[in-house]
Amino acid sequence: MPVKKNSIRKIGVLTSGGDGPGMNAAIRAVVRCALNHGLKVDGIMRGYAGLLKEEIVVLNHRSVSNIINKGGTILKTARSEEFETLKGKRKAVNILRKHKIDCLIVIGGDGSYKGASVLFEKFKFPVIGLPGTIDNDIYGTDETIGGHTAVNTALDAIDKIRDTAQSMERIFVIEVMGNRSGYIATEVALGAGAEEVIIPERKCNFHELVEDIKEGNKKGKVSWIIVVAEGAGKAENIAAKITKLTGLETRFVVLGHVQRGGVPTGRDRILATRLGVAAVECALEGMFGKAIGVLSDEINIIDLKKAAHKEYKHINEFRKLLRILT
Ligand code: F6P
Repeated sequence: MPVKKNSIRKIGVLTSGGDGPGMNAAIRAVVRCALNHGLKVDGIMRGYAGLLKEEIVVLNHRSVSNIINKGGTILKTARSEEFETLKGKRKAVNILRKHKIDCLIVIGGDGSYKGASVLFEKFKFPVIGLPGTIDNDIYGTDETIGGHTAVNTALDAIDKIRDTAQSMERIFVIEVMGNRSGYIATEVALGAGAEEVIIPERKCNFHELVEDIKEGNKKGKVSWIIVVAEGAGKAENIAAKITKLTGLETRFVVLGHVQRGGVPTGRDRILATRLGVAAVECALEGMFGKAIGVLSDEINIIDLKKAAHKEYKHINEFRKLLRILT
């Protein structure tokens, strides 16, 4: 919705859904950039849930000191059932208007984007989305804030598991995050030199996997690393099935929420900073209802509605690489 340039005075910022390392760097960039342009900034605590409870605080330069290197989000985050309803969204818009917030910057994943997109499309409230999720499953950006750190965290763990897998000659099935996205699993499998990856985007040929293991074992191979995205099956069940069908000792590890925390990598901090600044500049230009990302190292601005609903990249190329390398 085009608004007269520089007609905004106050920006609101919130983080929503699953947190990701680098969200603090994005908040910092939004706050500092907005203040330096003479705007005011309100921080909304606990995502849409906090918005509905009017948990709103004034942010200044000092509020965001020493957070660029911290995981999590100083604004906290949550998932809100009330906001999912139209009534909840109407209430949210009324609260934003009451607090004289002229534009809301939402840092979150696809669910958060969908909600923000309705605020804009149905209620004409100016919003801008920044991709904040470890899942890297947002259309219109090569990377999302937190994805790089999450992959590194999982790799660090898998490198350690590999030591014991090799020494004790075992198969390990390692479950990583990603409910509908195999991004972390595929990148991690590639980076860890895993033998197989099981992802929600593609049905696993379990029979083939078991045959590969048996075949490899006949040739003297004794240890495997199999990465599974949480949305594609439970590591525990997969490990039990492999043991049953191959007779080889198979253990499982669920990495879980460890992947969501920790010090953000330089790449995530820089990505978040670039996106935060771009969001404020977008608001100053009166460009609302937009999602901001980075494509081929350039800032990419697309309609939020499109980013919220279009399928993100597919990862077949990575799977092909795995096949070539194992
Ligand atoms: O969206 C990020 C994510 O970490 C997913 O990978 C995972 O499925 C989900 O959040 C877990 O959410 P929660 O912490 O609410 O269980």
